[in-house]
Amino acid sequence: MLKILEIIDLSHNFGGLRAVSDFSLEVEEGELVGLIGPNGAGKTTIFNLITGLFKVSRGTIKFQGEDITRWPSHRISSRGIARTFQNIRLFKELSVLDNVRLGGYAQHRYTLLEAMGRSKNFKVEEERQRQRAYELLARFNVSAYAEAPAKNLPYGEQRRVEMARALISSPRLLLLDEPAAGMNQSEAQELIRLILEIKKEFSLTIILIEHQMRVVLNLCQWVKVLDFGETIASGPPQEIHHHPAVLEAYLGRDGGLMEEEPERAAHVPWTVT
Ligand SMILES: Nc1ncnc2c1ncn2[C@@H]1O[C@H](COP(=O)(O)OP(=O)(O)OP(=O)(O)O)[C@@H](O)[C@H]1O
Ligand SMILES: [Mg+2]
Repeated sequence: MLKILEIIDLSHNFGGLRAVSDFSLEVEEGELVGLIGPNGAGKTTIFNLITGLFKVSRGTIKFQGEDITRWPSHRISSRGIARTFQNIRLFKELSVLDNVRLGGYAQHRYTLLEAMGRSKNFKVEEERQRQRAYELLARFNVSAYAEAPAKNLPYGEQRRVEMARALISSPRLLLLDEPAAGMNQSEAQELIRLILEIKKEFSLTIILIEHQMRVVLNLCQWVKVLDFGETIASGPPQEIHHHPAVLEAYLGRDGGLMEEEPERAAHVPWTVT
């Protein structure tokens, strides 16, 4: 199988804090890989490094064999990596349709001059993007909201609009940062179904950050576990589930975390049924 993504010894510091430490990962085309770990483990930072939101200070990121380590984010996006955000990042006052259209910005096939002169090429391209955005809204079952400001949508629908926005750029690799956050069991089940469908339909490779073990177990073929920026385990989800280092990271050495830190304990994936 072809390697779509290769991360070699990636590290990132925030001042004196080492948020990611010598992180390596290989993802094959068509795989669905999970990234889990307690709060503050460094998961989102890794997504921010892959997508060029943070500058990489150490390590290498290769996408389809090409070194993209120091590329700006718009170039990474147009090369084929898209993402959703842990904290939904829609433009609240803009319509749902425009939010999705903006996701295709890096792909626009007209020059600034053509846009300023509203040339034929510009208009054709704009229409193509609009059609594509409508198709995606329909695919994600949110067409009814197309003209509404994004802020009017219920939370679950906003998450689906984010996925539509990510897919308008026709990515090969999709990074999902806690897509099931705040969802109940049946919503999470529905999300699992949707992710599997779009993966097939759009021939995607997916990296998923997720706290709900149900979602990880149902979706991922391989899981990496981080704690304080370090990779503490790696393997199929069924094995990771029982891994001593993983249990320790989530529950604490003495298992007393539940009482001492109820907030952190609330994120232990095994507590979610
Ligand atoms: N922009 C930033 N500036 C300073 N510190 C940051 C920044 N972003 C993250 N951190 C710190 O880096 C560490 C890793 O954060 P990160 O958001 O990657 O964790 P995470 O695994 O995604 O956690 P969560 O499950 O809570 O989303 C944390 O200690 C966090 O406080
Ligand atoms: Mg995070």
